Amino acid sequence: MLGAMKADLRTTYLGLGLASPLVASSSPLTGDVDSLRVLEDAGVAAVVLPSVFEEEVGEEPAGPLELPPAYAELLAGAKSALRIPVIASLNGTTSGGWLRLAELLQQAGADALELNVYAVETDPYTSGAAVEERTLRIVHRIKSTVRIPVAVKVSPFYTAFAHVADRLVDARADGIVLFNRFLQPDIDLELLTVAPHLKLSSSDEIRLTLRWIAILRGRIPVSLAATGGVHDVEDVVKLIAVGADAVMLASALLERGPAVVGELTAELGAWLDAHGYASVAALRGAVSSAGVTDPAAFERAQYIAALEAGV
Ligand SMILES: Cc1cc2nc3c(=O)[nH]c(=O)nc-3n(C[C@H](O)[C@H](O)[C@H](O)COP(=O)(O)O)c2cc1C
Repeated sequence: MLGAMKADLRTTYLGLGLASPLVASSSPLTGDVDSLRVLEDAGVAAVVLPSVFEEEVGEEPAGPLELPPAYAELLAGAKSALRIPVIASLNGTTSGGWLRLAELLQQAGADALELNVYAVETDPYTSGAAVEERTLRIVHRIKSTVRIPVAVKVSPFYTAFAHVADRLVDARADGIVLFNRFLQPDIDLELLTVAPHLKLSSSDEIRLTLRWIAILRGRIPVSLAATGGVHDVEDVVKLIAVGADAVMLASALLERGPAVVGELTAELGAWLDAHGYASVAALRGAVSSAGVTDPAAFERAQYIAALEAGV
């Protein structure tokens, strides 16, 4: 029972005080004010709106830039209907004039921004270093125009992700959201065409995020949010234990409905109580690699041990 819970679930994400670490990540469920109200009533501690895409306004919009009207309406509606923080999301890949949308989102009342730099790099002449520079330029540019906090939602496909994370901090990102889930199109064998394929996640997918939050926690001074594969209380507990400040939900909400938030909140409290943790803060980082002097050697040792054990 929620009333019996003793543990303090509060967390701070991007400098925002949240009642718990459970956040609704960008999805169609956060794209409508009625649905946002339901999510708040169900207990989510913050919401991330669906993204405004660069493609909606163009890389270099001519003349004065305006927010797409439907997005302006959603953000205004969300801000007046909800008490919890509302995080707007920008989704694009260039550092062009479209980034002025960030200021408009701030003016429209967004409490923070999430920048999603989803891109599949197909140009054989573009190096990994160039891709990283482009992302850093975007972050730098946004941070020089807004005062609200900015989180960057990235993919795991970097050769040296710890370095990328460190440079995002240098570019003044306030948080990192790990990880973007790439749409992996399939082939329709009857039509012999590419079939967009959006598959909801499963708990197996948290492992990569677990690893990277564990590695980054204590090494970089920004908020870390986990997205991808959070379905059960075990997922939530593990992600906090490695150091997540916020744990985001999309597939679980789409699959099981907003009530899943109330269940997870109650189960998180019960888990903390049963295991003697007074708060989420006390659990956070309990299994991060902050105390490991050489995380790369630790990873090698784990790898060798797993192969030797045959699991
Ligand atoms: C139908 C759908 C729409 C989504 N739209 C967005 C979006 O507009 N912007 C974004 O950054 N992420 C978007 N996402 C990604 C989710 O926010 C989340 O990162 C991803 O689904 C992994 O989390 P999950 O395992 O909890 O689903 C979308 C996901 C789904 C399933």
